[in-house]
Amino acid sequence: MSSRFSASACGKIILFGEHAVVYGRPAIAAPVTQVQATATVEPGGHGLIIHAADIDRSVMVDPHTSIDPLAAIVNLTLEHLNCPRPDLEITIRSTIPIASGLGSGAAVSTAIVRALAQWSGARLEDAEVNALVYEVEKLYHGTTSGIDNTVIAYQKPVYFIRGEALQTFTVAQPFKVAIGNTGVASPTKIAVGDVRAGWEVDRARYEAWFDRIGAIVRQARAAIESGAIDRLGPLMDQNQVLLRDLDVSSVELERLIFAAQQAGASGAKLVGGGRGGNMIALVNDHNVESVSAALRDAGAVNVIVTEIK
Ligand code: MEV
Repeated sequence: MSSRFSASACGKIILFGEHAVVYGRPAIAAPVTQVQATATVEPGGHGLIIHAADIDRSVMVDPHTSIDPLAAIVNLTLEHLNCPRPDLEITIRSTIPIASGLGSGAAVSTAIVRALAQWSGARLEDAEVNALVYEVEKLYHGTTSGIDNTVIAYQKPVYFIRGEALQTFTVAQPFKVAIGNTGVASPTKIAVGDVRAGWEVDRARYEAWFDRIGAIVRQARAAIESGAIDRLGPLMDQNQVLLRDLDVSSVELERLIFAAQQAGASGAKLVGGGRGGNMIALVNDHNVESVSAALRDAGAVNVIVTEIK
């Protein structure tokens, strides 16, 4: 029997509703399987060590203190699995850009939980994986709605309302988005904290913006469920206007959004925390190549095309 266990988790995009989702409005998110985080667990020397291979960083897991999110998810998972503390090496590799709106932190945690569960011989439900990862998201990523861990743990499109049971929905007609990476890392925690600071100062104004985002999300769900894909582009544009109002866009994001629109995308917006990271553009089979090329010409360091289905 092999003593090496590997598990992977996908990335995610928020199609509609980031930030407002922290304040109880709905959001729609979908998995992005073209990018993955993988955790490999194998017997080690003394103690439990995590290697984040891509960033050349190692963390010794202390069972009592978890100042590090990687150590925290390992401790929480071992506790949940009721396991003795083993001598193990856990290696993380990820193609999901860090701090870029694609759920890198939640995906790494999810891969670790699943790999440790395999190693221990336990079968964890998606709901258990989701709950464990959410604990770490809350501890280390500031105020969080829980949308990232949910879409990544279940790996399906979700209509998400904070604190409510998972809702999935039917995609009547699959559609494609091009995801353009600005190459600017921007921790979600900072953007979320700045929105919170603005909300503290002028709650009425922010609540009105969140209401408008919530209304867009509900219209987007209806359009997706009825196959009215032509309605999604304008809704993305409207969502982006409100994200600008919330001051979470950036020069680099705007450059990519403008380039995508000029190349024929019917709508575009930032995804996730914003201030950098990734944007999406709604594309079809006729303009996918030209929009992807326009994004690269406008400075995107990477472009992924994914289908929502
Ligand atoms: C991050 O992917 C999405 C935000 O809405 C934060 C959250 O929901 O926790 C910006």
